[in-house]
Amino acid sequence: MAQTSSTAVPHHLAIVMDGNGRWANKRFLPRVAGHKQGVDSLSRCVQACITRGIAVLTVFAFSSENWNRPDEEVSGLMELLVLALSREVPRLKANGVRLYFVGDRARLSDKVQAGLERAELSTAENQRLVLNVCFNYGGRWDIAQAAQKLASSGQAVTEIALDRAMALAHVPDPDLVIRTGGEFRISNFLLWQAAYSELYFSDKLWPDFDEAALDEAIAVYSSRERRFGQTSAQLRDPSDGPQIKHVKVA
Ligand code: IPE
Ligand code: IPE
Ligand code: MG
Repeated sequence: MAQTSSTAVPHHLAIVMDGNGRWANKRFLPRVAGHKQGVDSLSRCVQACITRGIAVLTVFAFSSENWNRPDEEVSGLMELLVLALSREVPRLKANGVRLYFVGDRARLSDKVQAGLERAELSTAENQRLVLNVCFNYGGRWDIAQAAQKLASSGQAVTEIALDRAMALAHVPDPDLVIRTGGEFRISNFLLWQAAYSELYFSDKLWPDFDEAALDEAIAVYSSRERRFGQTSAQLRDPSDGPQIKHVKVA
């Protein structure tokens, strides 16, 4: 899909949902209580994206590096994933959301893997919003697995071939990447796909990131000028040079 410089509502919004642990710590609750609130916040965010006409939402739920957390938190997150699937999938299905899980599934238990496959299959007909849940995902993993696919099939390594082999090849690149929780880093999220995304950092912890906060992020996004390497003058007068050449195959 061709990229444009239009910046009303993002077509594809991606979010690093950070701050669950601090939300829980502030309340003297176990960290996993923060992750539970995080699931509720995601559920509200999905509805808000639907009403705002966002077509694709990609969220970072568990990174390749999150295995380094204490065993108790990791197993709590795995249990929460299974619970969230049983609780949320019927609602997502009814609301026209198509679910994809993006990441390396090999390290997940058989039970979790089966749950992910069932959830994807049961929402496969939906068309209102694509929800990509990045779980055991890392941008470096994605680039390496795409390169491995090309190597195994003897294909030349070009940008287009790599792009098609990526785990997010079914959607165009994100227009806007939000990170909540007050940190200013990418933490191995969408390293390839965010090459030209607008970035927005919010101090709000993910469980507190509500509709008003989303609207503020969208308002800031819509005030940005996306130049894709061109000049402002070229954007104002497209006859003043070539049209945007940054093309994403999706
Ligand atoms: C993000 O919240 C969710 C996951 C990484 C699973 P955190 O758990 O990182 O929350 P903080 O950053 O410790 O507050
Ligand atoms: C990024 O948050 C991963 C997710 C939100 C799933 P982290 O809390 O794991 O990031 P770092 O470790 O602070 O960079
Ligand atoms: Mg964090």
